[in-house]
Amino acid sequence: MNRNISRTMTRATGLALILLGIAGLVWQPVQHASPAENTPHYTADGKLILPANYRDWNYLSSGLGMTYAKSGPDDHPMFTNVYAAPEAYHAFLKTGQWPDGTMLVMEMYSSGTEGSINKGGYYQLASMGGVEAHVKDSSRPGDLWKFYGFEEDGKPAEARGNNNPCTQCHTKNGGVEDTFVQFYPTLRPVARAKGTLRPGTDVEKPAAAAAK
Ligand code: HEC
Repeated sequence: MNRNISRTMTRATGLALILLGIAGLVWQPVQHASPAENTPHYTADGKLILPANYRDWNYLSSGLGMTYAKSGPDDHPMFTNVYAAPEAYHAFLKTGQWPDGTMLVMEMYSSGTEGSINKGGYYQLASMGGVEAHVKDSSRPGDLWKFYGFEEDGKPAEARGNNNPCTQCHTKNGGVEDTFVQFYPTLRPVARAKGTLRPGTDVEKPAAAAAK
């Protein structure tokens, strides 16, 4: 083989190997939810770390323009998407109750209508930035269920104070403990069947009762 060609090839091979090495360092396999992220983790000063993978969790529901006082028509209803950490979700399917360490996350999206081919109804637009976590953790002092509001930057968040207005509505009206299971279609029938749904909170008639 011509010496020059052989030298060029050796260089090319060397370069290819270096590039592969760099690619290996940079390339990360798709990160799957590590169970460690599905239970609450706190900073040394007690702030909750936003689980980066919550979008991989179990989807519970999207409320659309839900309000809690009589109000006029809303041209821009907001979507609230709720997710549950998988271990908590599967425990709930078995028992109708939330285990200690349960994490629920709710994100808010503004809505749009009549864009692209859409002529009616609503789709989700920009994220409203804020994300809220609702956490059941008996290892923390104060209320068993706590709310943590995350800003757009996703920095760890402090717990909202005990018995705040969020907690008051959730404790009084939640279908299962402080959570609004009555609005989550895959969990409502489970809680109903296990007898854990707070009486008077069911939002639909069970099929059996409706048939009577
Ligand atoms: C007047 C009653 C009421 C108040 C006050 C209220 N919520 Fe809720 N919240 C609801 C309802 C109803 C749902 C179910 C929403 C859905 O289906 O999208 C909900 C769902 C949630 C969820 C999803 C997990 C769960 O617990 O079911 C989070 C997180 C949440 N709210 C956070 C908050 C925070 C934070 C505040 C205070 C800033 C707050 N809420 C105030 C009624 C209330």
